[in-house]
Order: sequence, then structure tokens, then C-alpha cells
Amino acid sequence: MTEVRHEAPMRHDVIVVGSGAAGLTTALALATTRKVLVLAKGGLDTGSTAWAQGGIAAVLDAGDTFEDHVRDTMIAGAGLNDEEVVRHVIESAPAAIDRLCDLGVPFNRESGNLHLTREGGHSHRRIVHVNDATGWAVQEALIRAAQANPNITLLPGRACIDLITGRHAEKYSGSGRVWGVYALDQDSGQVEAHVARATVLATGGAGRVYQFSTAPRGATGDGIAMAWRAGARVSNMEMMQFHPTCLYHLETKNFLITEAVRGEGGHLINPRTGKRFMAFYDADRMELAPRDVVARAIDSEIKRFGLDYVHLDISHMPADFVAAHFPMIHDKLLSLGIDMTTGPIPVVPAQHYTCGGVLVGVDARTDLPGLWGAGECTESGLHGANRLASNSLLECFVFGDAAARDILACWDELDQPPAVRAWDESRVIDSDEEVVIKQNWTEIRRFMWNYVGIVRTTKRLERAAHRIDLLRREIGEYYGAFRVTTDLIELRNLHQCAELIVQSALRRKESRGLHYTLDHPQTDAVARDTVLVP
Ligand code: FAD
Ligand code: SIN
Repeated sequence: MTEVRHEAPMRHDVIVVGSGAAGLTTALALATTRKVLVLAKGGLDTGSTAWAQGGIAAVLDAGDTFEDHVRDTMIAGAGLNDEEVVRHVIESAPAAIDRLCDLGVPFNRESGNLHLTREGGHSHRRIVHVNDATGWAVQEALIRAAQANPNITLLPGRACIDLITGRHAEKYSGSGRVWGVYALDQDSGQVEAHVARATVLATGGAGRVYQFSTAPRGATGDGIAMAWRAGARVSNMEMMQFHPTCLYHLETKNFLITEAVRGEGGHLINPRTGKRFMAFYDADRMELAPRDVVARAIDSEIKRFGLDYVHLDISHMPADFVAAHFPMIHDKLLSLGIDMTTGPIPVVPAQHYTCGGVLVGVDARTDLPGLWGAGECTESGLHGANRLASNSLLECFVFGDAAARDILACWDELDQPPAVRAWDESRVIDSDEEVVIKQNWTEIRRFMWNYVGIVRTTKRLERAAHRIDLLRREIGEYYGAFRVTTDLIELRNLHQCAELIVQSALRRKESRGLHYTLDHPQTDAVARDTVLVP
């Protein structure tokens, strides 16, 4: 057993957990008057934001309207969206794009105007983009601005373990109020306590709960699990989005082929028949149907014909058009021996986006006093049962800004944090069985893929629930006995998220949007959120 350390908690005005689009938007808006600490697991650019390809949806074309964007969002979301929230976010989009232009994001332009590309489910061209690597350009600009701001302290290499609440105060101050976080310094292995008057969760999604996902390694649902453990409600966790077109390649497992490839004319083809197949599934919208429809269509072709993948083909378009529109993807595929200008790309669906999450209001408040949330870790009412393409970065900008505004507006009512207990390591030792983590992690991701995937049944969900029950004890015992590591923190959170997803899926006795079950194929007349209460 090593020495127990009692580091004094570090005090800040506001703590933001996460340095992606949501976290840094919040931090920049707060830093006008407040000192902000931003914590990030790994590097500052390791979240999904840096990986975003297609772009950001905004009504900017004279022929387009807010009304059409609202309608497209509600159709994709199968009516489970909160229309008021949808309208608010969509009407805020042009201002969000202006702010990004001010930060120096080099969006593509045509004759001086922003170039707009098209993606599935959108009735107009309305996706602002930086070639096919929009997220990287946005992430870089946000980091640059945060680094230049003297009121922002960026602290990467910190894996937050749990929220600090009244339970952790030296003098018990009621369990609900959030005062900050316990965070593992990933280099030194020490656990720090950070406290503040306000805490914002912007920790991204839980995609890595599935075996195949386009999301980065750290997308383990940490914020959702932390908030749930602290007593916040989570909503619509069964609504897991599968992107139709992830590259199928034996070595490169999670490379996305942007929806914009279909938006710019790409066709989906069954490699066995050599024919386009979307007409059998959605004859009107074909390849540009919403993601749930296209992903299910591909899944069905793969299962019916015993295929490993289907083809996405844009080689009928001029080669210089393809190379100019998709330079990053073109280069990456060439490095793998695939030339998208002359032949098809093998693709399969993969988990892509977590529509559910910590329940927040339009002001980004969670259920817990002192805790706000923004971005993919939340359920704001925008996406409903299925997120419309390129509405997610937009949500990060609008809700990041909303969280900051609300915190600043109620600043004088936010108490100073009380004295809190340091992290207690007196009863744990270093693990000598790391293999347990790997085994459980792999098991969760496998059964989630096989039993809680694109097409579900009650029996499969019950099988998954049974395995989750078995693992709960094993992971709990391990967590109670050994010193925390990043892998252990993530495994505990992945297990928690798997449980929330399966519980939510079992509660929904209908098929709607991303939740499709053979046992309840009907869609109920009234759309209801699945809200889980801790
Ligand atoms: P993230 O960008 O994922 O950031 C999460 C942050 O939280 C990171 O800094 C991470 O280090 C930190 N964090 C997590 N856990 C902890 C912890 N325990 N302790 C401390 N820090 C923690 N959306 C669009 O709108 N348009 C697109 O074109 C688009 N393309 C996409 C392409 C890909 C391949 C993927 C995976 C997603 C895409 N999305 C797109 C979705 C979009 O990128 C994400 O939903 C969005 O970037 C999420 O931003 P965020 O700030 O909520 O989280
Ligand atoms: C893509 O480029 O296909 C991803 C867009 C998104 O996830 O919104």
C-alpha cells in the first residue's frame, strides 16, 4: 500500500470538464469575467470534435428557411424532439457561425459566400464546412483562443473520476449540490480535488460502449455516468446513432466516410448484385434518407446477402471534383490502397453518436444545483429519437454559450464551495490484475454490439441486461480494491452507460427513430422521452 496523500482542494470560479466544442465554447464565454479551469482527459484535442468531418448545419442560403431546418430536424428525430428547443438552436445557428468566423475558422467559400454542402435528411444545402475536416479546424481555433485567454487555465491529462457533492464536504451540506470534481492526474497517478462555484460537464458521448464506433478512444460516457451517480436524471439513452458509412478495413477500424459523400452524389451499391439498393427502403430520399433509415438498409443488405460490407461509390463524378471536396478522406484511402476517384469504398455502419444523456434545460442546467451540461453528454431535446446530420456541433456552440450565460446571470447566488474531503486511498492497493479490465471492457463492447445494436429484440436486450448484472459485482469489487487508473475509470463508466442504455431500451415498447425492435415494430401515437431517475 502506498502513502495516502491529502492534497488541499484547488479552488476556481468555474470548472469545465472537457475541451471539445462544448467545453471550450463555455469556457470562452465565461472568461469574459470569470476564471475558468478546463480539464481534459488525454490531450486537449482528443474528443470527437477534432474528428468531425461533414460540418455544421445553419440556415444561410436565401432559398432556405428556419422552418425547413426545424422540420428536417423533427422528421429525423421522429417527433421526440422538443420543438421549442429545436427552434431556439436553429435560430441561433447563424450567430454561432459568425462567432466561429471571428475566431478564424477557415470555412470553405465560393464567390465570397460560405460554401454549403448537403447531408442526409436535409432538404437544402446548409452545411458549413472546412473541406472534409471541419472538426479539426474548429478544435484548433477554439484551443488557440482559449490558450490566448488569461482567464482560462487548460489542464489536459486529467481523467475526472466523480463529481464532488455535498456528500464530500467536511461538514455535510446536503447531497445534491455539486462543488467540483475528483480528477486523476494521468501522469503522476495522484488524485486531485478541484472545487468551484459552478461546474460544467462537456465530456462527450459514450460511443466506445460498442465494439465498432467512429468515436475516439475516450468516448466512454464519463460525464453521463458521473452525473447519474451524483443523482441527475438521464434521458433517451436507447437512442444510439449508427452512422451508415464507416470504412470497412481490416486494420483501420473506425474511419468515418462523411455523409457529404452521399450529399455530393455518392451511391450505395450491393457488391453482390452491383445495383443501388436504397430504392427498396426509401424510394423518395434514396441515399439521402436520415441515418437510421440508411443504416438499417445497409444492415439488412449485409444480413440478407451474407456480405461483409456494401459499396459507397462516387467514382462516377469527375476525379478532380472528388479530390477537391474530400481531400482528407481521399488521401487516407489512398494510403490504404483505395482510390475513391476510380472505384467504390467498402463501408459498414458503426456507432457514431449518443443522442441521449444528462437531462438539461434550454439554459443548460442539469437537475443538480451547481451543475450545468453541454454537448454530446447531454439530452437537450434537440435531437429526439435521431440526430440530424451536422446538428451536433451546432448544439455544442448554442448550449456551451447558454451554460455560460446562465452561470454569469446567477453568479451572485452561487455560494463559495465548502471545505471538502481529499480523495481517500487508504483502503486500495495497486492492481496486479489489469487483465480483468481488458476482459470486461471487451465483453461489454461485444454484447452491446450484438444484442443492443441497430435492430433489437426484447430477448437480446434481456441477455445484455443479465450480463450487465454479472459484471456489476466484478467491476464494483475491483474498483473498491484497487487504486484508480484511466482504464478502470473508463470501464466503470462504460458499464454504467451500458446499463442505462439497456434499461432505457427495455422501457421503450415501440420502434421510433434509432430504437428499432422486432418485438414492438409500431410507433406509438404519442412520443415520450425515456427518463431514468437515479
Ligand atoms: P467532445 O468533443 O467529444 O469532447 C469531450 C471532452 O471531454 C474531451 O476534451 C475529453 O478529453 C473530455 N473528457 C471526457 N471524459 C473526461 C473525463 N473523465 N475527465 C476529463 N475530461 C474528460 N457532428 C457534427 O455536427 N458535424 C459533423 O460533421 C460531425 N462529424 C463527426 C465525425 C466523427 C468521426 C465523429 C465521431 C463525430 C462527428 N460529429 C459531427 C459529432 C460531433 O463531433 C460531436 O458530437 C461533438 O464534437 C461533441 O463535442 P463535445 O464537446 O460534446 O465532446
Ligand atoms: C458526417 O460527416 O457524416 C458526420 C456528420 C455528423 O455526424 O453530423
